[in-house]
Amino acid sequence: MKADMMSTFVSFFFFELIIVTVTINVNISFSNGSSYVGCIQSERQALLSFKQDLTDPSNRLASWVGDGDCCKWTGVVCNNLTGHVVELNLQYRWESADADEMSMLFGKINPSLHNLKHLIHLDLSLNNFEGMIPPQLGNLSNLQFLNLSYNSYELYDENLLWISNLSSLKHLDLSDVDLSKASNWLLNINSLPSLVLLRLKHCGLQHFSQMQNANFSSLTTLDLSFNDFNFFIPSWVFGLIHLDFLDLNFASLEGPIPYRLGNLTSLKHLDLSLNHFNSSIPNCFSNFSRLEYLSVRGNNFQGKIPRSMERLCNLRSFVISNVNLNQNMTEILEILSGCVANRLELLDLSGNQIFGHLTGEVGQFKNLEFLYIDENSIVGPIPHSLGKLSSIKYLDFSFNKLNGTVSENHFANLTRLKDFDASQNLLTLKVNFYWVPPFQLESLNLRSCLVGPHFPLWLRSQKSLYDLDISNAKISDVIPSWFWKSLSQFTNLNLSHNQIYGEIPPLTDTSHISSLDLSSNKLSGLLPPITFDVNALFLSNNALSGSISQFLCFGVNESKSMEILKLENNFFFGELPDCWRIWQYIVVLNLGNNKFTGSLPTSMRILSSLRSLTIHKNSLSGITPFVSLQNCSNLEKLDAAENQFVGYIPRWIGERFPSMKILDLRSNKLHGILPVEFCHLASLQIFDISYNNLSGSIPRCIYNFSKMVTLNSQETNDMYYLGNRILVLQDLFLVRKGIDYEYSTILNLVRAIDLSSNNFSGEIPREVTSLAALQSLNLSHNSLTGRIPENVGAMRDMESIDFSSNQLSGEIPHSISSLTFLSQLNLSNNNLSGKIPSSTQIQGFDASCFTGNDLCGSPFPNCTVTFETPGPENGVGKDGNEHEVDWFYVSMALGFIVGFWGLVGPLLINRKWRYMYYGFLDRLWDKIYFAVRKYR
Ligand SMILES: *[C@@H]1O[C@H](CO)[C@@H](O)[C@H](O)[C@H]1NC(C)=O
Ligand SMILES: *[C@@H]1O[C@H](CO)[C@@H](O)[C@H](O)[C@H]1NC(C)=O
Ligand SMILES: *[C@@H]1O[C@H](CO)[C@@H](O)[C@H](O)[C@H]1NC(C)=O
Ligand SMILES: *[C@@H]1O[C@H](CO)[C@@H](O)[C@H](O)[C@H]1NC(C)=O
Ligand SMILES: *[C@@H]1O[C@H](CO)[C@@H](O)[C@H](O)[C@H]1NC(C)=O
Ligand SMILES: *[C@@H]1O[C@H](CO)[C@@H](O)[C@H](O)[C@H]1NC(C)=O
Repeated sequence: MKADMMSTFVSFFFFELIIVTVTINVNISFSNGSSYVGCIQSERQALLSFKQDLTDPSNRLASWVGDGDCCKWTGVVCNNLTGHVVELNLQYRWESADADEMSMLFGKINPSLHNLKHLIHLDLSLNNFEGMIPPQLGNLSNLQFLNLSYNSYELYDENLLWISNLSSLKHLDLSDVDLSKASNWLLNINSLPSLVLLRLKHCGLQHFSQMQNANFSSLTTLDLSFNDFNFFIPSWVFGLIHLDFLDLNFASLEGPIPYRLGNLTSLKHLDLSLNHFNSSIPNCFSNFSRLEYLSVRGNNFQGKIPRSMERLCNLRSFVISNVNLNQNMTEILEILSGCVANRLELLDLSGNQIFGHLTGEVGQFKNLEFLYIDENSIVGPIPHSLGKLSSIKYLDFSFNKLNGTVSENHFANLTRLKDFDASQNLLTLKVNFYWVPPFQLESLNLRSCLVGPHFPLWLRSQKSLYDLDISNAKISDVIPSWFWKSLSQFTNLNLSHNQIYGEIPPLTDTSHISSLDLSSNKLSGLLPPITFDVNALFLSNNALSGSISQFLCFGVNESKSMEILKLENNFFFGELPDCWRIWQYIVVLNLGNNKFTGSLPTSMRILSSLRSLTIHKNSLSGITPFVSLQNCSNLEKLDAAENQFVGYIPRWIGERFPSMKILDLRSNKLHGILPVEFCHLASLQIFDISYNNLSGSIPRCIYNFSKMVTLNSQETNDMYYLGNRILVLQDLFLVRKGIDYEYSTILNLVRAIDLSSNNFSGEIPREVTSLAALQSLNLSHNSLTGRIPENVGAMRDMESIDFSSNQLSGEIPHSISSLTFLSQLNLSNNNLSGKIPSSTQIQGFDASCFTGNDLCGSPFPNCTVTFETPGPENGVGKDGNEHEVDWFYVSMALGFIVGFWGLVGPLLINRKWRYMYYGFLDRLWDKIYFAVRKYR
């Protein structure tokens, strides 16, 4: 009984218990004044030496001075009879009044601590101690409690040898201590037979030593999470039959879950999430009759929740998301709606392949506060018994195939609901015009539900709502003025993709709004001044018009925190105002497809954070945009296509824009040559300068475009964090919540060059063939001469080649037939001669691809002279089939690629990618994911 209680408290409340004991001791010792001994001289000295090595910015150890009674010093506790220091408790406490970093202790742990020979309890956790743990701590043979955790991974140890002397140790927490070099950690800890608690979370551990059984057989708490074992669960774990807390989260564990896990029948908390376990979901879970918390999310399990799990009557949290669960929802509810339903507070089934209907049994879960069934394939209507979930706070049905109508009856008893997400289903929300909901929501997402045609008036009652998405909801109405006035309550607001009309009133409130998305509606009129502190404003695809100077130049004395401003596809006109000085934090600016005129204002130079600028399809003129942007050294994308910019491409372009990935200057009036310095743009992936008046030769240094030489499909997009949302830089698909990162762009994988319709002359440089990752090369409508480079077949990813309308001569190189992905080829209107190489690939192209030359062979009449036709094996290797990115297909004009893939491409991305990001995010944001996304 007692042991049971202890283990419940041991993890978090242990400190509290000790503090209470201490207070009592002190009181008693004062009332029995005569028996009080006071501090021992040598121990006072040891404490002072310890202090000497520390920096203590907030003077927490102010009492540690002089030759006073060290038993009364902060954090020091002595034995009331002997006067020996028995406890040293310097844990940094968040709850303390001015809890900030400055009240942590910094510095090394002085070895003098070993003079506190009677120390039982040592806690230095949550500070900023650094360096090696002094091995002299091994002399503290009375130590029962040692906590050095969470010192910012700045403490380390290379073998933990000293720890084997601490034979009385019961509680050991070294979480966040760097033990990556301590390969013998387990053998040394194994000589601690009294251990009850062992926490080694995030220690950089990579090995388990060979060991059958653990000596610490009384262990009740084991935490090995956030390590990198790449191994099975070692068998000694299954002998720890007293364990009630086992955390193996994110530890790179693999293999099936062994049956022997079922021996751990005392478990109350079991976390196996984010590993690579690959069995079916084991039956042995049902042995854990005391289990309260079970998480297996993010593994490679297959199959179903076993029926035997209906026995887990004490379960409060059950997280089984992203594990390939392939089961009928009806069956899952049958299993869980028995005694499991009694206590369950959290059920997370998201990200699986669950199918079938949501049945009335869902109403059994009386204590459920969190229900996540998002990202499955659940069909049919939402049952009315949902209304019985009177404890529910967080409901997520998003990304399923639910249909039918959701009405106020569903919500009648959901008085505690805070967060409701029904987005991406086929649901209709139909409520009475005067409905006053029983809840106060904080977050509501009805994206792609049918909400309209009227603006939902019931939102007026939701005073705590800060996160609202009713995009693509068929709302065809004006935004009521009460709603505009309530704007300041929102952090994120998305009303995009409706048919909302009317004008935007001046928004003169001064609160903060992280993201305001009104794009793809029918808003008209002028863009008014907005005094909100907005980080991201999306107004693209509306019918807004007029000058933007009222908006842009308002409040010229205050700097704006806008990071993303998207105004493309409206009817704005006039010159771009010279007011960019106050917008210096802008990262993404899109003014494309409007009617702006004049040149880029000089104040744009201030935009040093700018990474993506789109100004295409306007009537902008003046000297090349590079001049006004020369200080924007972080620029990664510049799309200035279809304007009237004139002038040369400056030589300094290469050094000023080292990060440039996408450069699109199609259809302008640039002239002069492509300077050699241009090749310094080594990150370039998409380069389009077609339809200008450039001349001279194509620089040989083109092989410097190293991103076009190899394609790393592991390469992730640049993520951009905006509040708790994630944006992908190049297309800026706004990500709704942590799990949508799959909608990142694949633009990052496109490699293309378009120099067509200029006056380039000379030969196609041989060096171009080293751009093996290039997928599209268009050199048509120039004055190029000479032969097609012999080694053209080396560009193995090539999908589209257009060399038409030049003066190329000689034969078509045979190596071209090894381009297995080639789907577009145009060599027409040159002076090519000889036989067209015969291969199935080339034969697929019709005669128009070759006309206007002197060619023979299929598709033209046979040649009179026959040539040897080497097979593809003479060209490049045959391994082209292992193409990683088979789902994408680049054969359109470049402008189209940029536009199309930016918008639609993201939706086509496959699951593999999603998992990649999943891992990535978890690595960095695991806590936030749980704390913010779900269980906030
Ligand atoms: C000394 O402290 C112990 C607990 O640590 C307590 O049981 C005992 O009563 C105390 N004795 C005196 C004389 O204060
Ligand atoms: C303390 O520990 C160190 C290293 O473990 C050892 O060399 C030394 O003899 C010990 N000193 C005492 C006083 O026990
Ligand atoms: C711990 O167990 C191992 C066997 O696994 C044994 O050889 C060793 O002596 C034990 N050590 C202690 C200190 O009990
Ligand atoms: C653990 O389970 C296995 C079989 O499942 C059994 O043979 C063994 O005796 C059990 N061990 C303990 C310590 O209960
Ligand atoms: C809501 O609660 C009331 C009272 O507990 C109950 O009578 C009613 O049936 C519940 N409504 C629904 C839809 O479950
Ligand atoms: C819901 O979808 C099913 C098919 O999945 C269909 O049979 C049913 O008619 C739909 N119900 C509504 C209300 O649209």
